Amino acid sequence: MSETLKRTRRYVLAERPVAPTGPLQEGVLRYEDDVPVPQLEAGQVLVKVEWMSLDPATRSWMNDTPSSLPPSPLGETMRALGAGTVSASEHPDFAVGEQVCGLLGWQEDAVVDGSILRRVPEGVPLNASLNVLGIAGQTAWLGLHDIGRPRKGETVVVTAAAGGVGSIAVQLAAAAGARVIGVAGTPAKCDWVREIGADDCINYREDDVSAACSRLCPDGIDVIFDNVGGAMLDALLPHVAVNARVVLCGAISRHESGHGPVPLDNWFHLLVNRVRMEGFIYMDHEARFDEIEADLLPRLRNGELRSREHVVEGLTAAPAALHTLFDGTNTGKLLVRVGQS
Ligand SMILES: NC(=O)c1ccc[n+]([C@@H]2O[C@H](COP(=O)([O-])OP(=O)(O)OC[C@H]3O[C@@H](n4cnc5c(N)ncnc54)[C@H](OP(=O)(O)O)[C@@H]3O)[C@@H](O)[C@H]2O)c1
Repeated sequence: MSETLKRTRRYVLAERPVAPTGPLQEGVLRYEDDVPVPQLEAGQVLVKVEWMSLDPATRSWMNDTPSSLPPSPLGETMRALGAGTVSASEHPDFAVGEQVCGLLGWQEDAVVDGSILRRVPEGVPLNASLNVLGIAGQTAWLGLHDIGRPRKGETVVVTAAAGGVGSIAVQLAAAAGARVIGVAGTPAKCDWVREIGADDCINYREDDVSAACSRLCPDGIDVIFDNVGGAMLDALLPHVAVNARVVLCGAISRHESGHGPVPLDNWFHLLVNRVRMEGFIYMDHEARFDEIEADLLPRLRNGELRSREHVVEGLTAAPAALHTLFDGTNTGKLLVRVGQS
């Protein structure tokens, strides 16, 4: 890395958060607005980052404990998925002007090894590569196809059903012929969950989830697609049907302020009902992303798969936006439109 081409802006992870969950203290992220972009080496690509994904995992990667990936290294650009356009390339597979996505980080220009990039299909908006065709769609698809496996007529409950992953899981389960019940945190979110194909939706902030399940799932739940964990998961477990599958996709309730470990009181229902409960990390299945895209892309193109995006403008809006995932004020896949701010 010798001479520099241009300057860029980025956020560096400067120190670890004092608490593993909750709002970030001042100083965790350091904004740098005049950073030299290194000259490309063989195999590298320079990407103009246009979109960045904020995910619950982003907060976990700031901590000093391993989660879906090892901690984001201190002193380096904060890790994030992003999408953008190739502005220079020393990699034989990528040409200037092509649209790509991958772990590009919290920055406006990313120099990355071409091997970590994925090409965005022709005609697909870049933001979709972080949403229906990206982390949200891939995660929903893998959790449902590999673990949930809903059959026609079965009952599927999806938690955080109005969010990025949850809303795709609702639609894929409904498309498989299942009866789908969503769980979400506001009447407006529940309306959206019904609009995209759920038979009903429980507003967990107003209704008792267990009582609602007794009413809405009289024959039991065949698949729980759980994004929340903790007390929510525990409230669902007494309703599992024989041979049910519990997809452990996320545990976003862990991020509640002052949250400690929550015991699962109702685990015995897993045993007596011969239930399979399994977690997964979508990144482990990169080799299958083409297969997943082949299924999701036509459904995206023909309008069968719908999504909402919660877009915040500019890289500098990202630190404050992250917490909306945990207080529920995001309305759809949380994305940052990176650019001058
Ligand atoms: N396994 C994997 O590989 C993988 C990959 C990506 C994401 N995930 C997981 O998928 C889940 C959804 O991620 P996403 O990016 O699509 O986020 P999202 O669902 O768009 O946003 C998070 C939503 O979670 C709900 N929520 C937050 N705290 C809650 C609580 N204490 N109880 C109930 N609901 C709560 C909020 O909606 P309400 O207003 O409805 O409360 C919030 O809007 C997360 O758990 C994430 O960790 C897993």
